[in-house]
Amino acid sequence: MATGVSYSPVIIARAKGTRLFDTNGRSILDFTSGQMSSILGHSHPEIVEVVRRYIGELDHLLSSMITQPVVDLAERLARFLPTPLKKSFFLNTGSEANEAAIKMAKCYTGKFEIVAFTASYHGLTSGSGSATYSVGRKNGGPAMAGQLAFPAPYAYRSPFKKADGSYDWETELEFGWSMIDRQTVGSLAAFIMEPILSTGGILVPPKGYLKRMAVECKKRNMLLIMDEAQTGVGRTGQMFAFQYEDIVPDILVLSKTLGCGLPLASVSTTVEIERGCNKAGFIWISTHLNDPLTAAVGNKVLEIVERDHIAERVKRLGAQLRAGLDKLQEKYWCIGEIRGRGLLQGIEIISDADTKAPGLDIGQAVSDRAMLMGLSCNIVNLHELGSVFRLAPPLTVLKEEIEEGLRILDDAFAFVLILRSFMADSD
Ligand SMILES: Cc1ncc(COP(=O)(O)O)c(C=O)c1O
Repeated sequence: MATGVSYSPVIIARAKGTRLFDTNGRSILDFTSGQMSSILGHSHPEIVEVVRRYIGELDHLLSSMITQPVVDLAERLARFLPTPLKKSFFLNTGSEANEAAIKMAKCYTGKFEIVAFTASYHGLTSGSGSATYSVGRKNGGPAMAGQLAFPAPYAYRSPFKKADGSYDWETELEFGWSMIDRQTVGSLAAFIMEPILSTGGILVPPKGYLKRMAVECKKRNMLLIMDEAQTGVGRTGQMFAFQYEDIVPDILVLSKTLGCGLPLASVSTTVEIERGCNKAGFIWISTHLNDPLTAAVGNKVLEIVERDHIAERVKRLGAQLRAGLDKLQEKYWCIGEIRGRGLLQGIEIISDADTKAPGLDIGQAVSDRAMLMGLSCNIVNLHELGSVFRLAPPLTVLKEEIEEGLRILDDAFAFVLILRSFMADSD
């Protein structure tokens, strides 16, 4: 059944490292890490070995049974995280884990209002979907009660400008909070945010922004839930993207990247919040709560990321990717902005250099052409937001593969723009 996703015409038969192979054996570079998840590339030999071992000896148990891989993963995660975030449990998807985090915030605070950015994506189940404003909001009936939206830090398109034309994020942020303070019925439980808004267009908050948001949440006794589905586990050049600022979220949610393509998500919090939730009768159980097989995979992912200094590698390769993209921006007028961190980079496509009107058709045409030429790169076309490529190759991508991807993108942009000007001339 179609689910609103326009399926790719390419049928992939095999995936290895950064490469996909279609049914004709054609190689395609995967610059989306699957669904932004396979950070160690496809079928990493050590991950394959863990899956083989655990499917053979400890696959899945009654949800109340705790196993060594789960204990190891919780301990390993606690070592990576700032001290107060000691307590974790494990689920499958980002939507589910955010759902649990939101429920925890409600239980702990005894309040029910949840704030999220206007360009947010936290999943599409009832609670996480209610806090998602970028897509999927329409025609599914009412959202959960108590959802409030906050202006996303979208420097390129924000109407908040200083006299010199630069982004006035402080005024925008204060305006956002003034709107929240007006709308709230006095029951603010949490702000759920991505440290870089990915689906919403790779929006990187300016320096100081997250810190200020943490302060504003604290002032209102709200919890800060950080959703690092796409940014966590080294993707941006830090283990977690919230570490670009001196903040500690109250609840951290990891998903996609933690399982490296397998369904694993984590919810981490403080001893105090855990205690408060228990006191308030918080319950979360699902069929695959704390499954040993996926926990063992998560353990191996974290072990490899630490052992192979993946975050450092991401800084180097991210700089290479960024330099190449900056060159493309100089060459092609339809690239409005390049933004991102590490190996999560966005290309904003415009159709008019003066008005900065989103270039949805151009973006789609470049994406289609790149796919034909052997590069899978995801374009998110959101009418109200913009048209933005999200480049997120595996963190194990080779230097040569980045160069190859950039070459294909260069050729794809050139092809699409020449074709456009040819068609305009012949009109
Ligand atoms: C930031 C973020 N949170 C949550 C989700 C939802 O995760 P899932 O699709 O695993 O439910 C996504 C998925 O794209 C995401 O990008």
